[in-house]
Amino acid sequence: MTATLITGISELVTCDPSQGDGSPLGIVRDAALVIEGERVAWVGEALRAPAADACVDLGGHAVIPGFVDSHTHLVFAGERSVEWAARMAGEPYTGGGIATTVAATRAASPEELREHTRALVAQMHAQGTTTIEIKSGYGLDVAHEARILEVAREFTDETTFLGAHVVPPEYAHDREAYVDLVCGEMLQACAPLSRWIDVFCDTGAFDEAETRRVLSAGVKMGLGVRLHGNQLEAGPGVRIAVEFGAASVDHCNHLSDDDIDALAASDVVATLLPGADFSTRAPYADGRRLLDAGVTVAIATDCNPGSAYVTSMPLCIAVAVRDMGLTPAEALYAATRGGAQALRRDDIGSLSVGVSADFAVLDAPSHLHLAYRPGSSLVAQTWRRGARV
Ligand code: NIG
Ligand code: FE
Repeated sequence: MTATLITGISELVTCDPSQGDGSPLGIVRDAALVIEGERVAWVGEALRAPAADACVDLGGHAVIPGFVDSHTHLVFAGERSVEWAARMAGEPYTGGGIATTVAATRAASPEELREHTRALVAQMHAQGTTTIEIKSGYGLDVAHEARILEVAREFTDETTFLGAHVVPPEYAHDREAYVDLVCGEMLQACAPLSRWIDVFCDTGAFDEAETRRVLSAGVKMGLGVRLHGNQLEAGPGVRIAVEFGAASVDHCNHLSDDDIDALAASDVVATLLPGADFSTRAPYADGRRLLDAGVTVAIATDCNPGSAYVTSMPLCIAVAVRDMGLTPAEALYAATRGGAQALRRDDIGSLSVGVSADFAVLDAPSHLHLAYRPGSSLVAQTWRRGARV
C-alpha cells in the first residue's frame, strides 16, 4: 500500500489528548501525517516523520479532523424562504412548515432527490465535513420514507429513520393510527435501510407516550436511539433519551437542572444545532451550562429547508462560540470528536494512528480562525478516507 507523507502543517489538531500539547485538541506544531490507503498510519512532529512513497507539502497550514455532522435532514425537495422571512419579522417557529416540505418531497422523483442531495453533500465536503448523518422524515408514508432512506444510503452509512417527525395531514384526525403505521409497516420497510431511529419529541410533534412507543419498536428492530428533544419547550425528551440510552439528544434549548444532571450522569451526547437557533431566532441552547456540568457536547448543522438551511460547520462553530458560550477549542472538538461520539464512532473525528484519514486543510495558520473569521471560505482542501475530495 502506498504511504503518503503530508508535511507543511503549522498546527495539527488531532482531537486526541494523548498527542501534542496534551489539551483536548491534542495540538502538534510543525507536524506531519502519514496516510496509507484510507487510514492514518503515523502522526507527529515533522522532524521525526518516517520515510514514505510520496510527499505532499501543504506549505504551512492548519489541519483539523474532518467535521462530523451528526444531524441533518438532507434528503428533501423545495424550499421555505418565505416562511423563514416571516420568522425574521417575528413569527415563531412551530414545525408547521414541515408539511410543505413533505408535499414537495413526495412529488419529487428519486433522481431529483438524489441530485439535490448530491449538491448539498458537495457543499458540505467543500466546507470540511467528512461524515454526514442523514434522517428521513419528509416522506411520512411507507414508500416515501423508504425512498428517502434509499437515497440517503447512497451518501452515508449513518442513516436515521424519522417517520415520527410530525403526524402528516392525512392522519391529522387519527394520530394513533399514524403511530401504529410508524411502529409497524413503516418501520419494517425502513429499519433495513437505517442505523438509527429518531423521534421529534416536542410540542406540536410527538408526546411522551408516543415517543416511547416508537423508540421501543425501533430498539426491537435493532436500531440505535437518537432524539429531537427540548427544542420548542421544556419536556420529557432528555429524560426519555437518558432512559433509552440514546447516543444523542439534539437541540436541548429548554433544559431543567434535572435534565442537565441526568445527561451528566449518562453517556448521552447533547447535540447543539447553532444553525437552527440562528435561523429560528430561538433562545440559543446554553452550551456553557452543559459543558460545565460535564455533559459531552456535539455540534451539527441540522441542515433542512425549514429551521436551518445551513451546510457549514464552520458557521456553526462561530455561532457556538459567539452565542452558546463555547471556547473555540470546545466548539471545534464538539464539531469533530463530539459528533463522532454522538454517532458512537471511534474511527472518525480525530487524527491518530488507525483512524479514517479524514481531515480539512485550513487556509489559516490556526484553528482559531474558524470562529474568528465567520463567513470566510477557510477550508482549502478536504481529504476523506485518504483521498482529496
Ligand atoms: O430539527 N425540529 C424538527 N425537525 C427539524 C426541522 C424540520 C423542518 O422545519 O422542516 C429540526 O429543526
Ligand atoms: Fe433536526
